[in-house]
Amino acid sequence: MASADFSPLLEPFQAGALALDNRVVMAPLTRSRSNPEGVPPSFAADYYAQRASAGLVISEATNISAQARGYDYTPGIWTDAQVASWRSVTDAVHRAGGLMLLQLWHTGRLSHPDLQPDKALPVSASAIRPRGQAFTAAGMKDYVTPRALDADEIDAVVEDYRHATLQSRKAGFDGVEIHSANNYLLEQFVRDSTNTRTDQYGGSIANRLRFPLKVVRAVVSAWEPGRVGIRISPVTPQPGGAALDSDVMATYGAYVSALSEFGLAYLHLVEGTTIGPRDVPQGIDLRALRRRFRGPYMANNGYTVQAGAAAIRQGNADLISFGRMYLANPDLVARIRQGGPFAPEAPKDTWYGGGREGYADWPALPKAA
Ligand SMILES: Cc1cc2nc3c(=O)[nH]c(=O)nc-3n(C[C@H](O)[C@H](O)[C@H](O)COP(=O)(O)O)c2cc1C
Repeated sequence: MASADFSPLLEPFQAGALALDNRVVMAPLTRSRSNPEGVPPSFAADYYAQRASAGLVISEATNISAQARGYDYTPGIWTDAQVASWRSVTDAVHRAGGLMLLQLWHTGRLSHPDLQPDKALPVSASAIRPRGQAFTAAGMKDYVTPRALDADEIDAVVEDYRHATLQSRKAGFDGVEIHSANNYLLEQFVRDSTNTRTDQYGGSIANRLRFPLKVVRAVVSAWEPGRVGIRISPVTPQPGGAALDSDVMATYGAYVSALSEFGLAYLHLVEGTTIGPRDVPQGIDLRALRRRFRGPYMANNGYTVQAGAAAIRQGNADLISFGRMYLANPDLVARIRQGGPFAPEAPKDTWYGGGREGYADWPALPKAA
């Protein structure tokens, strides 16, 4: 395979205020190696710096508050200790010449009382129980029926997003990505399968979008919009076995159109089922959805290097984010430049939890003579 085939991935790109050296993005990847206080380990700095040749590195999903937690050993950004540890990560990425965003996360109903302050019920748009199990320190536990947030509690959650954005600035990130994908809290409000509220946050599309758009407004009040991206996943049922919205094109169409007004750095879209098939149900046209966004488009899900280069060449994407490829190919950009080879997918038992092994110890290719 001639490396020239991959060359579109190696062109520089300006996304909002972010000047990327190339079109290759490290997708957000939860690795569950933080301590119980949500502080990333010291070797996270090595892991991320090894991947800093990506045009942009997006952090693993990071809890905006104690209530946001849905998985043990995931990092946070609401305490000073968390900020201090993230600072060593961003310093290392910057020293290696990279750019890094923090992914802002609230898991909503995809949590468990064991992970919540005072063993409280997780919160969501509505009291609808997800299918499946939560990852807790005591092992996998069945999800519970969450508590619907009261309308007068919602502004406090919006404030948590604003605070987390300010904390991300303090930690030295170059911006943030709002995690509105994979059926976490924001998407729980967007979809009518998980939002059956009858107040101003439920019912009509405009009402279901009210909370997510308040969050976007709060985040861009704390940092310039050109440093804020957003991730959506209109057709993924996972995790939690969430049904799709009853009218994906209308609901997400309105969402993407509204997002387009903020002048964000990019729209990041998971095409198909996250970490699964790229198929979309009949009648859903992801390309038509994303065209409603007047700004950079970052495509994700199941892209090979070849498919990513072709998508850029054909004008179907500006940026490609790679997830699983980044687990075992820290120097993915150098490998693309050389035309490969690429390491096979990292074994699943290294994905979540553990230490440096299977995380910060994947070798780069020997430097070409
Ligand atoms: C180990 C692992 C952890 C992930 N963690 C996150 C995450 O924290 N936030 C997120 O939005 N997506 C997460 N994802 C989804 C990836 O960002 C990406 O959408 C998915 O892997 C599909 O892209 P790929 O085919 O290039 O791997 C994760 C995927 C994997 C494999």
